[in-house]
Amino acid sequence: MSNDVVRKPLMSGNWKMHHNHFESIQYLQKLAYLLTKEDFAACDVSVHPPFTDIRSVQTLIDADELKVSLGAQHCHWDDKGAFTGEVSPAFLSKLNVQYVICGHSERRELFGETDADVAKKISAIQKYKMTPIVCVGETLAEREAGLTTQKVMGQVRSALDGRSSEQIESMVIAYEPIWAIGTGRTATSSDAQAVIGAIRAQVLEMSGVKAAQSVRLQYGGSVKAANIAELMAQPDIDGALVGGASLDSAEFARIVQFRLHRTP
Ligand code: 13P
Repeated sequence: MSNDVVRKPLMSGNWKMHHNHFESIQYLQKLAYLLTKEDFAACDVSVHPPFTDIRSVQTLIDADELKVSLGAQHCHWDDKGAFTGEVSPAFLSKLNVQYVICGHSERRELFGETDADVAKKISAIQKYKMTPIVCVGETLAEREAGLTTQKVMGQVRSALDGRSSEQIESMVIAYEPIWAIGTGRTATSSDAQAVIGAIRAQVLEMSGVKAAQSVRLQYGGSVKAANIAELMAQPDIDGALVGGASLDSAEFARIVQFRLHRTP
């Protein structure tokens, strides 16, 4: 597909259940010191700390006018109600959260989140003018059984179904093969491109050229500074959702600066 739209890369650090609020502040101060104006001009950057850290991180971002975007790892789909332990998207938007991960495989596998839940969350996140980062991906067993396309495209169709082109244009979809998460096994850049290219083709089919050219598609799964440049060289990969390697601010800064280095 010809590409009229320039998609700005997005590097997102998903800290999962790591870093208390003191550690988050120290991390962010170091990250901000390592990244330059040019880095932020070339690449959007989001960090997704645990909920208990978000207010502290927001205060630091505001006070120091940092260009890092604040993200959350999850939210509920309702504004408020009797949902013990859940977090409202309305509350996140009040804290200037800009990106919310939804449907992460750990939420789907460990906490039973379904495609239907993910679809409701996407609507709630967009209602509050935040950007959903919708995670999709297959298990190793599904991959070995040749079911990657069926699984991933099913998740993508469910996430996009009934949405307008404008709503899809502003979304982020992260392809995270579950067998590559935290395992040190990365999909080869051509395997990642094959699935991510197919996701873009699915968006094209469901929503047309503008949505397909605008939606940002990330890869996630054992991304590190040593493999990011090769992944980013693929035509449909617009960024990365990084777990383990984002916990170290120097390593995450090198990932953001992928344009400055090449993999050997
Ligand atoms: P790792 O980068 O640790 O493999 O985690 C990927 C991930 O799950 C990001 O959401």
